[in-house]
Amino acid sequence: MEDDDLVCLCFRVSQRKLVNYMARERPRVASQLSECLGAGTGCQWCVPFLRRLHAQWERGERPDLPVSPEEYARRRTRYRATGTREPIAGPAGEEYDRPSPAVNDHAPKPVRIPLTQLARGQRAVVDCSELTGLPEGERCLLHAMGLHDQCQVRVCSAGSTCIVQIESTRLGISSEVARRILVTPIEGTDGAP
Ligand code: FES
Repeated sequence: MEDDDLVCLCFRVSQRKLVNYMARERPRVASQLSECLGAGTGCQWCVPFLRRLHAQWERGERPDLPVSPEEYARRRTRYRATGTREPIAGPAGEEYDRPSPAVNDHAPKPVRIPLTQLARGQRAVVDCSELTGLPEGERCLLHAMGLHDQCQVRVCSAGSTCIVQIESTRLGISSEVARRILVTPIEGTDGAP
């Protein structure tokens, strides 16, 4: 991978951002990389790779993943479709991205529920695959307002109009449309207004 290639595709976190984060924050454990723009908190595909980058950094090596971005993305797509991982061998032939017991081949697929089922303050990752039933104009509008696949939302207000926050933008979505937006809840509720 090159520095600007994405390691966490869910949250568009590049290898460069992760390396800079480690140099700046000096994380003691790999899981702290989630504080770098939410890396690893979506579909979890990238978690073993985040561990690999952290281990390389701890050893003083140049963090790098020996896989092309295209291949990496292809394998993630398969992982998301099947829930299983194809191993990617490192330079010495080790299959370093084999999952740990915490992230294993038998792990359940991320739970997806309608956006309308989230409580106020709850955060989630969006899956737009069920929006195909909407007129194209409505889909384009949602996209233009920042609602795209794998973006992260926080519910500001639930009800007949669901108000969600995407980065710094707030968006009102009718319950009819919100029901079609599937989301994977992120643990924890921040309780912010
Ligand atoms: S690719 Fe990083 S959480 Fe999905």
